[in-house]
Amino acid sequence: MKITIVEETPTNIETLDTWDGAGSEDIEHKLTPAHVEDIAEIFQTPLTGAYNWDYKSADGRIKKLYKLGKELNWNAELDIDWSYDFPKTQNIMDPALNPFNGWAPFEALSESEKLRYNWHYLAWTLAQFMHGEQGALLVASQLVSCAPTYDAKLYSASQTFDEARHVEVFTRYLQDRIGIVYPVNKHLKALLDKILTDPRWDLKFIGMQIIIEGLALAAFNTVRMTVMDPVLQNILHLVIRDEARHVTFGVNYLEQFVTTLSQEEKEDRAVFAYEACCVMRERLIATDVFEEFGLDAEGARARTLEAEMMEHFRNFLFTRIIPNLRRIGLLTDKVRPLFEELGILAYENMADDGDIDWAELQKPLYEEAPEKPAEALATSN
Ligand SMILES: [Fe+2]
Ligand SMILES: [Fe+2]
Repeated sequence: MKITIVEETPTNIETLDTWDGAGSEDIEHKLTPAHVEDIAEIFQTPLTGAYNWDYKSADGRIKKLYKLGKELNWNAELDIDWSYDFPKTQNIMDPALNPFNGWAPFEALSESEKLRYNWHYLAWTLAQFMHGEQGALLVASQLVSCAPTYDAKLYSASQTFDEARHVEVFTRYLQDRIGIVYPVNKHLKALLDKILTDPRWDLKFIGMQIIIEGLALAAFNTVRMTVMDPVLQNILHLVIRDEARHVTFGVNYLEQFVTTLSQEEKEDRAVFAYEACCVMRERLIATDVFEEFGLDAEGARARTLEAEMMEHFRNFLFTRIIPNLRRIGLLTDKVRPLFEELGILAYENMADDGDIDWAELQKPLYEEAPEKPAEALATSN
């Protein structure tokens, strides 16, 4: 075992054999212990833990969500059919959705570079999902200690295991099927740092369960609708089910807790939620990919922000967060104009995740057998 402690977050893009090879390879089986070097970055956290000596369940909803978490566990090795290889000679994302279409610097790229860009953009997107899932794993495990109530401790433990399986499944997809691993986006990393190192457990809750997971849920749904590989669609289907439970838990738990805060404490959390949303908007800009392809990062950023489609997409990602902030009481008069400026206040009256749709959450893993990849491909052509 070799563990290297680094001072700075790595910024290099890793390319594995799978990228250059013909198809997917089971990377784990090719690596010997000598190949594996763990790169670790230390963070310090003033965690205030709490025992719970009551052991009585006070909230039937949280207990029911915990039970559902146990029942709906899935196993990435058994519940996903990994046998289908999506050819690297085809676009894996719908190229029509690329905001750089018609932009001279992008159009100057050769066809093979455009194809490579298409794959890199997905690789970057999935890497941010993977890093975000690791953040969720670390935060959920902190919540087991910090959350003051019995129900929340058990629920956080079940979420911790969910997040471990999410890290596993995105890692496997990236390593075995794409072979390009991007570093964590600096804005996402900054928010994770803040959440992991802040001593206030409810702020961890707001940052992770409402902001990061609310945005992830919308982003997973978008990628699921636009990606061509049925294997990834199945993965996202399973992860989305778990995340819907996590967000529901966060809204239900915080809705009660926020009422116990003073007005000043509430404003403090409301401003934090607003600032976290600003950071997450920046996290959606794929600067590392622009640089990899020699595209001027500022020009590409401006193009991304200008594109009407991207504007809709970026705003759509907040359609879960804003109604949930309203529901838990953090869309205060002080922050409302700030959200208005971002152009996302209009979502406040959309459905929130506070009223639990048990029928939806209780559905079996697959309502019908998942589409066989080969059939899916045949029908999409
Ligand atoms: Fe997750
Ligand atoms: Fe989650």
